[in-house]
Amino acid sequence: MLCHALFLALLAAVSIAAKAPSAWNGHTDVVSHKLAPFTPYYVPPGAKSYDSASPLVHYTGKWHDTYSSAYVHKSLRWTSARNAAVQLTFTGTGIEVFGNAGKKNGAVKVYIDGKLVQEINPGLDVVTPYKQQRTFWKFDLVFGKHTIKLVNEASKAPSGKPGVLDLDAFVVTRGRDWAAQPGAKSSPPTRLHAVLSPRKAVSASADWKLTQEGTTGVHAMQLAVISTTHALVVDKVEHNPLTVDGHPAWAALYNLDTHALTPITMQSNSFCAGGSFLSNGTLINVGGNPIVEDHTASADFGDVDGLQAIRLVEPCDSGDCTMYENHDRIRMAVLDGTTLSAIIIGGSKKGGWINNATVNNPTVEYFPPKNIHGSKGMPVHVPFLDDTLPSNLFPLAFALPDGTLFMAANRDAMIYDWENNKERRLPQLPNGVRVTYPMAGTAVLLPLSPANDYAPEVLVCGGSAIDDSRPSYEMTSQEPASAQCVRMTLTNEGIARGWEVEQMPEARLMPDAVLLPTGQVLLVNGAGTGISGYGNVRNQIGASNADHPVLTPVLYDPAAPAGHRFSSDGMPTSDIPRMYHSVATLTPRGDVMIAGSNPNLDRSEMRYGTEYRVEWLAPPICSRRARRSRMQMRSCPSGRSSSCSGPHGLGYVTHAVHANSRLVELQILRRGDGVLEVAAPPSGKIYPPGPGFCTSLRTGAEQGDQGHGWDGQGPPVDEAAIANVLSNSQADQYEKTKEDSSSE
Ligand SMILES: *[C@@H]1O[C@H](CO)[C@@H](O)[C@H](O)[C@H]1NC(C)=O
Ligand SMILES: *[C@@H]1O[C@H](CO)[C@@H](O)[C@H](O)[C@H]1NC(C)=O
Repeated sequence: MLCHALFLALLAAVSIAAKAPSAWNGHTDVVSHKLAPFTPYYVPPGAKSYDSASPLVHYTGKWHDTYSSAYVHKSLRWTSARNAAVQLTFTGTGIEVFGNAGKKNGAVKVYIDGKLVQEINPGLDVVTPYKQQRTFWKFDLVFGKHTIKLVNEASKAPSGKPGVLDLDAFVVTRGRDWAAQPGAKSSPPTRLHAVLSPRKAVSASADWKLTQEGTTGVHAMQLAVISTTHALVVDKVEHNPLTVDGHPAWAALYNLDTHALTPITMQSNSFCAGGSFLSNGTLINVGGNPIVEDHTASADFGDVDGLQAIRLVEPCDSGDCTMYENHDRIRMAVLDGTTLSAIIIGGSKKGGWINNATVNNPTVEYFPPKNIHGSKGMPVHVPFLDDTLPSNLFPLAFALPDGTLFMAANRDAMIYDWENNKERRLPQLPNGVRVTYPMAGTAVLLPLSPANDYAPEVLVCGGSAIDDSRPSYEMTSQEPASAQCVRMTLTNEGIARGWEVEQMPEARLMPDAVLLPTGQVLLVNGAGTGISGYGNVRNQIGASNADHPVLTPVLYDPAAPAGHRFSSDGMPTSDIPRMYHSVATLTPRGDVMIAGSNPNLDRSEMRYGTEYRVEWLAPPICSRRARRSRMQMRSCPSGRSSSCSGPHGLGYVTHAVHANSRLVELQILRRGDGVLEVAAPPSGKIYPPGPGFCTSLRTGAEQGDQGHGWDGQGPPVDEAAIANVLSNSQADQYEKTKEDSSSE
């Protein structure tokens, strides 16, 4: 087994050396349009760079200095001597090595704390070496003092001469010293467990705490907590600092306890994809963009068209999750979309900004494919998605307790009975406010409670009343967003009463709504003016279509009397703008992870730049964590695992859409001996089968435990429908269309 692994590692090294330079090194920035090399060197906030000339970096053997403004601090140190070595002792959890990748470079052994961890080979057959390349990285060290040592093998380089080891800089990630946390033992708190209790309001008070810790490595366009310890961060293809397989990564696993990152390999471009969980806990990530390839874009990363992609992440706990993608076997029949549960709704057949009739995809389809009203797995036409053009992308949707779906797009809303393909149109959203891309608002299904027989109520907040028939060059980044929130109970009486209108303290376009375990809704992120996207309207800030970031979160208490529901009292204010492509999610620890913002085609440092920093907003209850006892979610009587199904789906977050976000209150049956017995919701439609977290407020044990709804069974699989989709659709249609047109 060990030999096999080593063989693979060596093969990888050889293949790097033999590979032609990857296109991602042809980086063009938006301003100059000139081809320039991409330099992955990057020091995130909280990390520290040690230049090759630092007195803390120690060298043995014969080394030389080279000076150029293309190097970090204008200097680089190199050796061609066999067994010459460089060493740094540092304190932290992560280490990165930067240097050249070119024809002179060869194999180098990397040791950490005296142990061989990897053999790298930055050798590349190129005329000019690429500078400031990340040649080695490790982010998951136990916090403490470590020594990294690089030893030159002087093996044959692509130049034919003995390979050169060069060092431009080390970057050390300090990370968190868990041992120094009050109440902590030696390792990060991994599985802390909790039980359930009725809602208890937490007011916005000075106790809310905002801290900035960790970076996402890839820009956080999409975010989903996938286990008690990890979140999945998904971006589009761009020049992120985190790399994988020798090129920038566009997905990563984020360790919620240690802040360590693991890059994930993805084949296709997940630009503006959506996601959801299946009943067996597998996460699906669907759609995306074709390879972005106009002259201001990221160059080709060797990825494939993402428009029809369905990517699977099987349940995984330990941080070794991978993404499965095979367009010949699994794909959507048509292009793009955003998801709810396993229904894939709407979208556009081509990448672009505001939707239009030519590219609109007014359909729903299912994953796995379903044969429904004669569809044989193919998409089902939904007129609502025609009637809501043009600003109808990223529809807001929730599964309701009777099995139907609530859907809002543009200024309209409906209840979709998917089993019978019937629409029930709801009253239009008041005051001309549009709530879907690029006039993005956000929505939540308010907590479902046995107290009112799980009557569903939706809350839709923010957006914009900009006239969406105007051309983009008549819109500006300075047009006010909407402060409106509307809510409606989706029962016959509720619908007859119509929308209840409220005003947030500040207007927000692109807000995120996070359902808290208290039943309150945290509204965070967003812009006070403009419109979603980049590069489209007048008065862009950098490339941003939006301006006036809203920096103070606001808490909405649905149970409070009208007029007393919003509060920002004592809520901390951030100094990080989070506008287009920003995200927020509740974590199993009970705090809110806030990340992203990138109104840019590619990574950019101009205002408003690409944001990698993560913030954590902790409610008062979290600060008492260390002093509270914790309880464990016990396994349930066999065959009745549903009684442990999580009442809180944390959702798949992107573009202000929190797909599958859901909170269900559970009834307590028995309490005593440190055990709390709760009743499962009476039907699987109230909390659809799938992963969920249980949280207790009463014990103060705020960390949720993860359970799977029902018995973890997969969704029904209709092989005939799958076969029909595969025979009636082509993989990567858009790429094929391009090939056809270019050969004309
Ligand atoms: C429709 O949208 C696509 C994609 O953004 C764009 O290429 C096309 O020009 C648009 N068509 C019209 C008629 O506006
Ligand atoms: C869950 O179901 C999907 C769809 O059939 C399947 O692709 C996936 O492998 C399943 N996951 C597990 C863990 O069984």
